[in-house]
Amino acid sequence: PVTALKGQYPHFMLKEIHEQPEAIADTIWSLATLDPPALYFDDLGPAAERLASIERVVLIGMGTSLHAAMIGQRYIEAFARVPAWSDNASEFRYRDPVLDDRTLVISVSQSGETVDVLEAMAVARQAGALQITICNTEGAQTTRVADGTVYTRAGLERGVASTKCFTAAVVALYLLALRIAQAKGRLSQGDLAAHLAELAHLPRAVAGIIAQRDAFRKNALRHAQAQHVLFLGRGLAFPVAMEGALKLKEVSYIHAEGYAAGEMKHGPIALIEPAFPTIAIATRHALRAKMVSNIEQIQARGGPVTGIVTEGDAELASLCDAVIAVPAVSSWLEPVAAVIPLQLLAYDVAVHRGCDVDQPRNLAKTVTVE
Ligand code: M6R
Repeated sequence: PVTALKGQYPHFMLKEIHEQPEAIADTIWSLATLDPPALYFDDLGPAAERLASIERVVLIGMGTSLHAAMIGQRYIEAFARVPAWSDNASEFRYRDPVLDDRTLVISVSQSGETVDVLEAMAVARQAGALQITICNTEGAQTTRVADGTVYTRAGLERGVASTKCFTAAVVALYLLALRIAQAKGRLSQGDLAAHLAELAHLPRAVAGIIAQRDAFRKNALRHAQAQHVLFLGRGLAFPVAMEGALKLKEVSYIHAEGYAAGEMKHGPIALIEPAFPTIAIATRHALRAKMVSNIEQIQARGGPVTGIVTEGDAELASLCDAVIAVPAVSSWLEPVAAVIPLQLLAYDVAVHRGCDVDQPRNLAKTVTVE
């Protein structure tokens, strides 16, 4: 039966990577329409009325969901101009955070059953904070605790390595940030229409990236023998770097670090040598000029660099030792485009190394005990 569920794919992880165009489209169009341009958050419940009075937002999650939360933080700051932070739920729950009834806590959890997220939500509830959860599982515990829910529509995710739930959560957070901006009177109809038009292109762009898997694989396998890999990004690409590193380490058991590229000179550059490859996310809007300078500094110390770049970027194609090119999408959606080759890279490297990609050692799909 399990083989039947995988269909044409050898692993759930690869199947779920391929399901992303549909998961993204289903999530977007369960929350919005293009004509007329409108947002529909049917499950926000009492949270909908209170959004206008929110003064700050804290986003919490663990692992891949935390990386989605980090991207959501930037969307909320940019669109709604409300102060926003993201935090690891296991840290948040123990540090007596300052919260009140004008704080919105957004929890991100595909399962809705992660213990640290639930305990962090209990802390937020105690303090009277408004809570919205982003969840992929109908009726999960987080949806029962939160004042409102935003469901992602990725379908059941079986691979321990989360892929389609990450990109679905990012687009759900994008739309929720627009909804908060709307409640705050900071979103014109014209701007909403423009954002939705950009989102409408995304599923096709993602399908196009996945279709290039065979071309990407050669570059991916350059990392199969590495003992360590560094992932670098700035701005919205920083959480993507962390996600790329998490994917690689959990399925291939290669040590990987995701870093904000601006940190390089504060320590990590000491690691650089020919046997320590870097994957630099340097797409068009990801503070590209700054990334060019990071790439040059790494290469000057003998470190090989693979760039995740925007198609047609001749300068980076000649500068990097190898590039993986993704199509141009709007600046806000670059994290979704850039993460797909990193998911494929982790998968291909892990399979090449003979690892059990769907059930990596020591890991459970959902962490329900501390
Ligand atoms: O179900 P959740 O989204 O709350 O799970 C959070 C993490 O346990 C999860 O994202 C984990 O990091 C994945 N194995 C990452 O691929």
